[in-house]
Amino acid sequence: MTDPLDEKMVSRVAEMIARAGDVVVFTGAGVSTESGIPDFRSPGGFWTKFDPEDFTITRFLESPETRRKQWRFLLSGDLFRDASPNAAHRAIAALEAMGKLDCVITQNIDNLHQKAGNDRERVFELHGNMRWIRCLDCGERYPLEEILERHRPAVDPPPCGSCGGILKPDVVFFGEALPDETLREATRRASQCALLIVVGSSLVVYPAAYMPLYAKQAGAGLVIVNWTPTPADRIADVVIHAAAGDVMERIVADLRRRMNRCA
Ligand code: APR
Ligand code: ZN
Repeated sequence: MTDPLDEKMVSRVAEMIARAGDVVVFTGAGVSTESGIPDFRSPGGFWTKFDPEDFTITRFLESPETRRKQWRFLLSGDLFRDASPNAAHRAIAALEAMGKLDCVITQNIDNLHQKAGNDRERVFELHGNMRWIRCLDCGERYPLEEILERHRPAVDPPPCGSCGGILKPDVVFFGEALPDETLREATRRASQCALLIVVGSSLVVYPAAYMPLYAKQAGAGLVIVNWTPTPADRIADVVIHAAAGDVMERIVADLRRRMNRCA
């Protein structure tokens, strides 16, 4: 079902959430664009400014220049400077507060679901989190801000304070395995939920993009809220091609009205 956004669609999704058991929300960079963080593949997105090759683990390991470029980018703080949760994040946190959310499975590394109020135990970050930087040699993990403050304005990335090894942001680079415990638990949750709602993802990067398929294969309902078409649209029960913040806010408002009527 792919119509321009209208109340019918909103109330259909609110009804699906009201009736469902476990609801999983699966998010991508599109849930954070209204917080001022560019996504990856829209016009003007991250991959139109940076070379994805620089974010492969191979190049990171073999090229000191790539590591210097990335360190300078981290020092600039441009990535998430003071980004705050937007209406979509707040709506997803409200679902949890209303007892209607099993978990959030996110591809994002910006920590905005936690900042919006989702319990960090219910947020599965498939691609890591930018708050940490980790030593590739001894595995020691440090708060990124602390390392940036301590070494600013050094142009060369600092070595690990414990063993002198290479420090890398604790996010998944292309060619790197996803954190296996997180991936295992996210897969389990997606495969056993009653409803999975995708918010702001092009669903083109695997294995993350398997999550909606796992849910559908297990008999769950599937809703996709995304500006542009995705490969999973054809198997979704409801597809809304509109802004995440507005849509999620309206769905939660409709759900709240329903729950108040039943209370
Ligand atoms: N409301 C709804 N949809 C939006 C909004 C918005 N405000 N802003 C952007 N979108 C949609 C875009 O149309 C796009 O289809 O969100 C989607 C974002 O897709 P991508 O930029 O591909 O981001 P994502 O799906 O998260 O990418 C997955 O790719 O580069 C890797 O590791 C990176 O986690 C990332 C992964
Ligand atoms: Zn180390």
